[in-house]
Amino acid sequence: MGAGPGHPELLTLKAAELLRTCDVVVYDRLIQEEILALAKPSAERIYMGKPVGRHESRQEEVQELLVRKAREGKMVVRLKGGDPFVFGRGGEEAEYLAERGVPFEVIPGVTSAFAAPLSAGIAVTHRGAASSVAVVTGHEAKKDHHRVNWKALAGIDTLVFLMGVSNVDTIAETLIRHGKSPETPAAMIQMAFWHDELAVIGTLATIARQVKEAGIRPPATLVVGEVVRMRDKLARAQRDLWRRPDGSGRFAPAPAPDELLRLASAGLGTQVLGFALERRLFDELGRPRTAAEIAAARGWDEAAALEVLEALTALGVIEKTPEGYRNLELAARYLESGSPESLREALLHQCRLAAGWSQLEAYVRSGCRDFVEVPPDEEALHQRCCEALARFAAPSVADKLDLAGSGPVLVVGYGGEEYKEAIGRRWPRLAVTAMNPFRNPGVPPALQPGLGPATDSFGAVILSGLLGSANRGEVQQFLELAARRLRPGGLLALHDSFLPGGVLPPPEVVLGALGRRMRRGGCRTWSIDRLRGALEALGFDRIEWQNLHAGTVLVTARRA
Ligand SMILES: C[S@@+](CC[C@H](N)C(=O)[O-])C[C@H]1O[C@@H](n2cnc3c(N)ncnc32)[C@H](O)[C@@H]1O
Repeated sequence: MGAGPGHPELLTLKAAELLRTCDVVVYDRLIQEEILALAKPSAERIYMGKPVGRHESRQEEVQELLVRKAREGKMVVRLKGGDPFVFGRGGEEAEYLAERGVPFEVIPGVTSAFAAPLSAGIAVTHRGAASSVAVVTGHEAKKDHHRVNWKALAGIDTLVFLMGVSNVDTIAETLIRHGKSPETPAAMIQMAFWHDELAVIGTLATIARQVKEAGIRPPATLVVGEVVRMRDKLARAQRDLWRRPDGSGRFAPAPAPDELLRLASAGLGTQVLGFALERRLFDELGRPRTAAEIAAARGWDEAAALEVLEALTALGVIEKTPEGYRNLELAARYLESGSPESLREALLHQCRLAAGWSQLEAYVRSGCRDFVEVPPDEEALHQRCCEALARFAAPSVADKLDLAGSGPVLVVGYGGEEYKEAIGRRWPRLAVTAMNPFRNPGVPPALQPGLGPATDSFGAVILSGLLGSANRGEVQQFLELAARRLRPGGLLALHDSFLPGGVLPPPEVVLGALGRRMRRGGCRTWSIDRLRGALEALGFDRIEWQNLHAGTVLVTARRA
């Protein structure tokens, strides 16, 4: 797997996901701590960087280790800087595995050959200045001139040399000898995408001296060609748009809010995340705090505080910096209690519902009855939380719908205002009516205020988050209502946590949804299959579904 040139944000999504799930990481020099930190705390991390002078035996050791760990039944990530197949010996390692019948996959990475010049503002094939680029090892400049075709290289517009710091003088001289002008611009970029990135710019005639004077050390990449001239403008105008206002970078990539909801609403992580939310831990991590500081301020045991902070780091909601633990952007937006976008209350509510053991016990003993008496203040809290979660999801649900020419839209359930806004942005002339039947408990769906006269019909009906609050049988009534009010050919969209059909969401999501529904007492679980049967019986066809936030599903159907 390629780790890219250094910064964790330059990993591929696939690499980050596999790192999070693997059992063993075998890594080289030049892999940032923050990348390794993505692996789960229990993953075995094995450093296999090459000590100088022991290359071949070390390579054998690495290859044997990979085979041994794989045969123990472990999922092994072999992590390499940049791209694994660009001067990284990834090809040899893959060959070794292939010969021994160990199944493997190769995940590409952002190669420093192109990322290092880019970071310094050099576009290696800038139109008009270069139409060819070659990536060359600088390692062999002294010892084996025959393997590198210098004559051919002199005819290529842009040359990128890796592993060339100690040979930069020989590289420059040899290129000049083979016909490159001594005035050809050249740049050496050290540690691109690391904190101590440094670039020196000169010409073939001067670059070796400049590299020495600046004390450039590996890893560094040499670029030779006219394209280096363009760098001034690009380097000056380029910004890291992700930097925080205080100039610091983000160390670890934030998980998608989706992931956060998934973690919060069920299974693994629920307990620790719920605890941290309940204790408003995120409110304190707006700036870096050590475990010792947190423990002292709260009267906690220091080792225990460390465990909690490490668990939250492993969940990917906070980050560990040299100064201490602090919120990732995600936690700052959604988990701190003072933030305007805070989902704290809703997530906490979800965590509590998911852990309702006693209600589940009552359910399995007494069967499905409307036995849970929800106290009025808890009901109000529940409404607020469903509303917050639906508000969060509405823009992306609306984004997935095609309402062009559909006629008036009716939104039933949570997130009505947010749906109005999101739909209004795309189709400003579409009339949208929103009503939430759960504000008027006890009134049958068809008699709810806000629906308008029974003769009003709609081009689209969106049912949002009904499963969380509807009682047994009520979902069916809402489907019937939608069928009656939709015009022929109209669109029905349902966004909810339906149990899977076809594609399986993670098991903790399924279990969490089950737990919540039983806890709320009464509503039978709605699987996709059951929903499909109900919709077909009501004359709907073209029934489709896609997974959305946090294991929720968007189902659409048309009325024939
Ligand atoms: C053994 S090669 C591996 C290349 C790697 N597989 C890739 O695709 O980037 C190591 C060389 O890559 C270059 N390199 C790696 N990381 C770099 C970085 N962050 N900045 C500049 N050059 C880098 C240096 O030339 C270094 O000597």
